[in-house]
Amino acid sequence: MRDTFCQRFGENETPIQTYFAPGRVNLIGEHIDYNGGLVMPMAIEQGIKAYVRPSTEPVFRMQTLQSDGELLLDWTMPNFEKRKAAWQNYPLGVIDLLMRNNWQWSGGLEILLESTLPIGSGLSSSAAIEVLTSYILLDQAADERIKDRIQIAKWCQEVENEFVGVKCGIMDQFAVAMGQEGQAMLLACDTLAYQYVPFSPPNYTLLLLNTNKERKLADSKYNERKASCEQALAQLQMAYPQLEHLCAASPDAWKELSDHVLQRRTRHVISEQQRVVAAKGALANGDWHFFGNLMTASHRSLQHDYEVTGKELDAVVNAALEEESCLGARMTGAGFGGCAIALVRSENEQAFIEQVSNKYQAATGLNLSVLASRKAGAGVGLL
Ligand code: GLA
Repeated sequence: MRDTFCQRFGENETPIQTYFAPGRVNLIGEHIDYNGGLVMPMAIEQGIKAYVRPSTEPVFRMQTLQSDGELLLDWTMPNFEKRKAAWQNYPLGVIDLLMRNNWQWSGGLEILLESTLPIGSGLSSSAAIEVLTSYILLDQAADERIKDRIQIAKWCQEVENEFVGVKCGIMDQFAVAMGQEGQAMLLACDTLAYQYVPFSPPNYTLLLLNTNKERKLADSKYNERKASCEQALAQLQMAYPQLEHLCAASPDAWKELSDHVLQRRTRHVISEQQRVVAAKGALANGDWHFFGNLMTASHRSLQHDYEVTGKELDAVVNAALEEESCLGARMTGAGFGGCAIALVRSENEQAFIEQVSNKYQAATGLNLSVLASRKAGAGVGLL
């Protein structure tokens, strides 16, 4: 890697350091983080590596092995106008926010990113770049705030909400910043109380099934769903002024909404919350069959009530569920393309992949790519 780095940024003696931020999957609890819900994400082994070399010039340079172009920023007169290359806006937003929060650094940085995460596939490549950039900047400047990983996650969510313009919840940034090897986490998004829960199903593997379907409308549809939830909450609050967020509504509250679409959206949110609580119990009891059933029920609710799956995710989940070796499958992340996850008996993994890939290809004309996450990954850090 040193050679590639030096070809791009020039040769010198300063050591190159390596940082890493993982991607994440959400095991269950989809589209409820921005509704104050309890979610169960986990960092994965795949992620983004950053090779970092400080320099004396007051310039920030970032390139990636995956695409052309460079994010170039002169610290002395930084230009925070949005860039055309979408990936550059995540680190740019982070720098902007940290500078407004009194982060200071007089030297420069040269950074080369290398990703083992398929970009834009719903595995939180954007949260990974944000958290990675924040971590590098704080570490290089010996800024004490690096110890507060929850603050880092909050900042990165703010970047995504304000600078990038996606009104996401905190789940992704939290999982990337706080991940621990071998552990999934239960995160209460209203209070940010969290606990780690071991996730290592004996004899089963969690497969990540990438539909390779571009998540084109994902951001605008995402903001639309969030707005519907706000509308539903406002309506319910007229009857229940104490109701703080949609996940706290009673199981049948959705019936009280005037509009059929809002009813279905809210029914998803409330039922998904119940499934997460049930999944927590299933994990505690080692009841993997029940856990799988909950995953599948979650997908159906996202398909029919929340309407964020689409043809490709439905095709891959349906094909997965036809395999006897599969305990459960569901889309993960925002939806509208991207990845599904499936819990598959390890000894049948190869046959499963073959069958599902063929069926998926026949149904959609697209190729499926499959990644295995053998264990939950660690959060952001210096390697
Ligand atoms: C995206 C967002 C998260 C979360 C999921 C859906 O990944 O970034 O905050 O809302 O979608 O659960």
